[in-house]
Amino acid sequence: TSTSSRASRQRETWTSSTGFILAAIGSAVGLGNIWRFPGVAYENGGGAFLIPYLVALLTAGIPILFLDYAIGHRYRAAAPLALRRIARPAETLGWFQICLSFVIAVYYAAVIAWSLSYFVFSFDLRWGDNTAAFFTGEYLQVGAPEISSTVVPAVAIPLVLVWVAVLVVLVLGVTRGVQRVNVVFIPLLTVTFAALVVRALTLPGASDGLNAFFTPNWSALTDPAVWIAAYSQIFFSLSIAFGIMITYASYQRRKANMTSSGLVVAFANSSFEILAGIGVFATLGFMAQQASTTVDQLEGLTGPTLSFITFPAVISQMPGGNVFGMLFFGCLVLGGFTSIISILLGVAASVQEKFGLGQKAAAVTVSVICAALSLALFSTTSALLALDTVDQWANNIGIVFSAIVMAVLVIWVLRKGPTLLAHLNTVSTFRLGWWWIGLVAVLAPLYLGYMLYERVRTLIV
Ligand code: PHE
Repeated sequence: TSTSSRASRQRETWTSSTGFILAAIGSAVGLGNIWRFPGVAYENGGGAFLIPYLVALLTAGIPILFLDYAIGHRYRAAAPLALRRIARPAETLGWFQICLSFVIAVYYAAVIAWSLSYFVFSFDLRWGDNTAAFFTGEYLQVGAPEISSTVVPAVAIPLVLVWVAVLVVLVLGVTRGVQRVNVVFIPLLTVTFAALVVRALTLPGASDGLNAFFTPNWSALTDPAVWIAAYSQIFFSLSIAFGIMITYASYQRRKANMTSSGLVVAFANSSFEILAGIGVFATLGFMAQQASTTVDQLEGLTGPTLSFITFPAVISQMPGGNVFGMLFFGCLVLGGFTSIISILLGVAASVQEKFGLGQKAAAVTVSVICAALSLALFSTTSALLALDTVDQWANNIGIVFSAIVMAVLVIWVLRKGPTLLAHLNTVSTFRLGWWWIGLVAVLAPLYLGYMLYERVRTLIV
């Protein structure tokens, strides 16, 4: 129709490649890097995990990132409409990806809200001596008989703040909202994060932590679960196959070098991730030294426990712990926020294009619905359980499934490989060859298919 073609002609754009790159880094670098990676790497072979991790990055991460970029940039729409422009039924895949993103946003917001609270708690080390009891009992109120209707749960306030901030940014739009936030937050995050890592490395015991982190357990390399963990981590961390990078690329100006930008984003993301591992484990080395034990004997090194129970305990023992705490939780808030706005933009843009809503109306509708769900689920006592279940299904299974279907559908069924390859090569400092199609359409689906099979089998048995 004439309205929709007018809308796509007037599509907002990032004002420069730097704007796009910062926004894409903002989406990629988030809780996954700071909060998820260190524990995953440690559990899956330590130093040896870097091998599957790098293999996953090169064989699937970067190639599928290019696929996302090519689809969004060539077909100029959020995931459902972009895929529909390739072939009508493919729209379904776009909605599947958007649903996954939506589900992730619901809990991702909660973790940002917790970080925001803990940023404030750092001022006076409010968590006290028993950080576990404080987090689950006092803060989350797990096991409380029932939340009384007169008392607002502690999580609700930061959670509402996060959602209001997301809504404001989305209403402002791609250039004035999302790009502006990233242009400020990403440099700020980089500086904060660098200070955090430097401080961690100068703590007594830091080197023991690094040894524990990097000492390779070679036998891990023969364990399929380790490889699955590496691929899932790369997908989650690069925000690929969620429809989010399709959406971001669709706002990039027509003459833009997508492949070079992609390499910059992937490199920045992995650097952040590995540095986060170094920072976190240096800190744990300090913790082990204080307790006259070894890092391997420490408990609670993964998931929410690491950031909200173990870390607060270390922070309390550290000289100048409040500053360290503010740096750490500040990084989680900054990184998390630039990621959640990418997710919500992906969802809002899809709804906007599907139902012909205005940009602001779509932004408000989607944020309000997601916020309501997030509040309903995460200001209750079952927050931790919900988080775990959602993470299992959405991140390990949903996303791998989405990547396989996308590769097979777009390249084998719809035969868009050559078109997309040519599209990426029109403006590029280096040429992608047929090997790119080979990686995306042959190697990745075979390998990921096997992984998915293994994963579902272990979950069901
Ligand atoms: N990549 C983000 C992180 O590492 C999370 C994310 C997933 C963002 C999916 C967008 C889409 O934390």
